[in-house]
Amino acid sequence: MKKEFWLERWAREETGFHENEVNAYLIQFWHELRLAHDSAVFVPLCGKSADLQWLRGQGHPVLGIELSGIAVQAFFRENGYLPKVLHSEKFECYEANGIRILCGDFFDLGRDDMAGVKAVYDRAAMVALPPEMRERYVKHLLDILPHAAQILLVTFDYPQAEMQGPPFALSAEEVTALYREHAEIRLLAQIDVLAQNPRFQKRGLTRLQESIYLLTLL
Ligand SMILES: C[S@@+](CC[C@H](N)C(=O)[O-])C[C@H]1O[C@@H](n2cnc3c(N)ncnc32)[C@H](O)[C@@H]1O
Repeated sequence: MKKEFWLERWAREETGFHENEVNAYLIQFWHELRLAHDSAVFVPLCGKSADLQWLRGQGHPVLGIELSGIAVQAFFRENGYLPKVLHSEKFECYEANGIRILCGDFFDLGRDDMAGVKAVYDRAAMVALPPEMRERYVKHLLDILPHAAQILLVTFDYPQAEMQGPPFALSAEEVTALYREHAEIRLLAQIDVLAQNPRFQKRGLTRLQESIYLLTLL
């Protein structure tokens, strides 16, 4: 999947993945991490998610990474912040009120960028990537994350043949296969959500489940 795909989606305002409200699973399950309120949280492929603000509201310094400058600027503007902007070789760094978003490619992040990060919130990040990119995504995440970091992962699963992603289907078997050797995996919930998603019914889905996992890196 090319970067242009996402940049064009933001440019054309085709952002059906964006939720105006804070994600209900984040609110319901975040306490499972038992994270100190001052621990930093990383949000990969963050878009302009309202979840960034919610996490900051819990006290966490928040670090996001997002390809689209339109998304990053919209996040700060729509939340009433005037961010400081710094340019580095790989990223434009926007920062206000303890929320820092690096505008650039997730795959350019290094270990130094993740210093102090204790947890990751992955909603619509791993499932935004096609299967062949996911392995690379997980490998890179594992390469850069500090030891013992936790990941709250929200996934979609459906019969992939019924619809083209994104979002791409991500089964429990694949989550297990990708993380088994590197993390303790807890399935916190698995919920049938087809009835609440008419836009996916219209696209032909006969089954749609969301799953929430808590991964603790070994
Ligand atoms: C499906 S959206 C989800 C956004 C956000 N997590 C949310 O819940 O609203 C995926 C986002 O990832 C961004 N993205 C895709 N590939 C990326 C990459 N390699 N590095 C950084 N951001 C990327 C896209 O621009 C898009 O905003």
